[in-house]
Amino acid sequence: MESRYKSFVAIENLADHIGQTVTLSGWVYDKTEKGKLVFIKLRDGSGIVQCVLFKPNVSEEIAGNAQQLTQESSVSITGTVRAEQRAPSGVELDVTDVRIWQLSKDYPITPKEHGVEFLMEHRHLWLRSARQHAIMRVRARVIKAIRDFFDGNGFRLMDSPIFTPNACEGTSTLFETEYFDLGKAYLTQSGQLYAEASAMALGKVYTFGPTFRAEKSKTRRHLTEFWMVEPEMAYFDLNDDMDLAEDLVEYIVQSCVKDCQRELATLGRDVSKLEAVRRPFYRMSYSEAVDWLNKNNVKLNRKQPDGSEIQIDFPWGEDFGAPQEEAIMQQFDRPCIIHRYPSEVKAFYMKRDPDNEKVVLAMDMLAPEGAGEIIGGSQREDNHDLLLERLRHENLPEDAFQWYLDLRKFGSVPHAGFGLGVERTVKWITGAEHIREVIPFPRMIYRIVP
Ligand code: 4AD
Ligand code: MG
Repeated sequence: MESRYKSFVAIENLADHIGQTVTLSGWVYDKTEKGKLVFIKLRDGSGIVQCVLFKPNVSEEIAGNAQQLTQESSVSITGTVRAEQRAPSGVELDVTDVRIWQLSKDYPITPKEHGVEFLMEHRHLWLRSARQHAIMRVRARVIKAIRDFFDGNGFRLMDSPIFTPNACEGTSTLFETEYFDLGKAYLTQSGQLYAEASAMALGKVYTFGPTFRAEKSKTRRHLTEFWMVEPEMAYFDLNDDMDLAEDLVEYIVQSCVKDCQRELATLGRDVSKLEAVRRPFYRMSYSEAVDWLNKNNVKLNRKQPDGSEIQIDFPWGEDFGAPQEEAIMQQFDRPCIIHRYPSEVKAFYMKRDPDNEKVVLAMDMLAPEGAGEIIGGSQREDNHDLLLERLRHENLPEDAFQWYLDLRKFGSVPHAGFGLGVERTVKWITGAEHIREVIPFPRMIYRIVP
């Protein structure tokens, strides 16, 4: 049988087919009747178009087909494309034929309001709604921008394994599994350690895949399975790393501004806020950020042994939580990189600042509008003995890290990298309230179905 795949016309491209007769295949988003007219809103995955059937123009059978249609029935509709100024897509279809594939009965998601729990249970169907559809298209655009950016700037994609013998980002969020006769394996928290080995082989690399954290926190920004892109570059220092992170984020955001106008409009996103995301971003050291918090009277709630709470100045040495990050970001219309954190709150592999032993050459990029941390990165410890000392200090199993220590024995070089969370980034760009909406099938502590 001859394939028809090249003759499919997508609704998003209909404006290029004005005056032509086309067949669209999709699902019914909505249907109404008015006198001799039947209006069918058809969606095909690329967009929605209004199809107008004038009963006197078609046979009784075809008119009957149109009248029977219910929400989410699958259908092929043939007609002539007509320019229509008032339509959001600029076109409508004058219907000449309607072929039903399946009539859908009692579709559970109706135009009325549903609770989030109900929608999450029906995630497999919820994805068809206009809002979710728009978010997924932005997500796809973000991922394409990431790939284009790295592929176009001399980076090579190097995939990291998902089963790993050791922890990368602390031992408290590891998912554990039995691995045949070899004992325990862990789902990777980050591809970084492998990206470092890859960078010593290929220079500039990026790893891109799902990562896993047994996060016990129920927040609007945490998933247990999320996607992360992690560039790693030989001979890069922290400044090079921060410059690259700014370039990447500007590129991602401006790609969406340019190519996702319809989606962002559907989401009601204030695009001017995204247009403002241009280099240079803001930068401040952790110590400057602590001073700023204390100067601006942003207090920390501290529980006392007797259970009461007092408010204290922010103590140098503690990690920032969402409240501190949000306070700092309120002054900024663009992302801000905070660098040089206390070594005690950061991972074992980060390099000490030669100018201040108490801090490491780390950086986090915070996004504005309450989006929070989207990037975490650092220059890596490249000295074998210092790295070994850090491993021991953190009680990490030396055996499992022998191969990683090897990288510091055979041609060790300064190197740096970072990880950008795809979902955190999509949440910010789309303005979604909760991270569960920006990945097709979210995994959280209390949800694994569908
Ligand atoms: O700051 P993180 O933990 O850094 C790393 O994993 C480094 N090994 C990356 C590197 O240097 N190659 O995570 C990086 C980013 C965060 O900034 C955030 O965007 C995202 O990953 N992220 C999460 N996203 C969703 N749910 C979670 N539970 C996340 N944890 C981190
Ligand atoms: Mg982090």
